[in-house]
Amino acid sequence: MTEVLSLRHLRKSFGALKVTDDVTLEVRAGEIHALIGPNGAGKSTLIAQICGELPSDAGTVHFQDRDITPLSAFKRARLGLGRSFQTTQLCLEFTVLEHVILSPDCMGGGSFNLFANPRNDAGLRDEALHWIGKAGLGGRENRQVANLAHGERRQLELAVALARKPHVLVLDEPMAGMGAEESTRMVTLLQELKGQYPMLLVEHDMDAVFTLADRVSVLVYGRVIFTGTVDQVRQDAEVRSAYLGDD
Ligand SMILES: Nc1ncnc2c1ncn2[C@@H]1O[C@H](COP(=O)(O)OP(=O)(O)OP(=O)(O)O)[C@@H](O)[C@H]1O
Ligand SMILES: [Mg+2]
Repeated sequence: MTEVLSLRHLRKSFGALKVTDDVTLEVRAGEIHALIGPNGAGKSTLIAQICGELPSDAGTVHFQDRDITPLSAFKRARLGLGRSFQTTQLCLEFTVLEHVILSPDCMGGGSFNLFANPRNDAGLRDEALHWIGKAGLGGRENRQVANLAHGERRQLELAVALARKPHVLVLDEPMAGMGAEESTRMVTLLQELKGQYPMLLVEHDMDAVFTLADRVSVLVYGRVIFTGTVDQVRQDAEVRSAYLGDD
């Protein structure tokens, strides 16, 4: 089985607090690997270590057979490590289309002609519209971000991530703060992307996890206590008592 992303014995402490405690896991080609765990388990910290925003105290991150542990977040993104954040990070004054065209590293690799307005480039526009459509925002390209609903903003973040042409997607709670209808829409979008992009999906919504994931890892106090298929995770007694409840 081909591993796209492979974490080996990662560690991170903040002072005396061990937040990532010897984490080893991999994301395989084509799979959605969900990472679940209670609040404060260390999920976002682990993502920051994977994406290079936070240096690890020990351990390695391999991406497509390359050791990326020493690389900056910028270089990791350029190699195709795509990510979304737990809270939205958007420019409210842009339109949807402008956001996708002008976000760093989206399309054209940032190699714009400095004397041309990228907003008027027909090729960039068409490509941006393609990614906007993939993220379910077709028809809303001229809306200002400030006027988008919360769920639509999260879809725009997905469009931005896709426009960077990632080889893996690392998504930190893409359904966070969404209502039921918005969550269902995001699950459908991620289902459509399944198989095209391997994903590491941090998510609290267990219905979404059980619908989308091929495998699930459970993080508790910075340790992976279990990795298995959705059926295995449902049945595991330790996981049930640590996270899912015993009902
Ligand atoms: N920069 C930091 N300095 C000190 N402690 C931190 C820092 N970042 C995170 N922590 C602590 O590390 C632990 C893990 O936080 P993290 O945000 O990774 O958890 P999480 O699993 O993503 O939680 P949630 O489900 O609420 O998003 C928490 O106890 C948090 O307070
Ligand atoms: Mg988090």
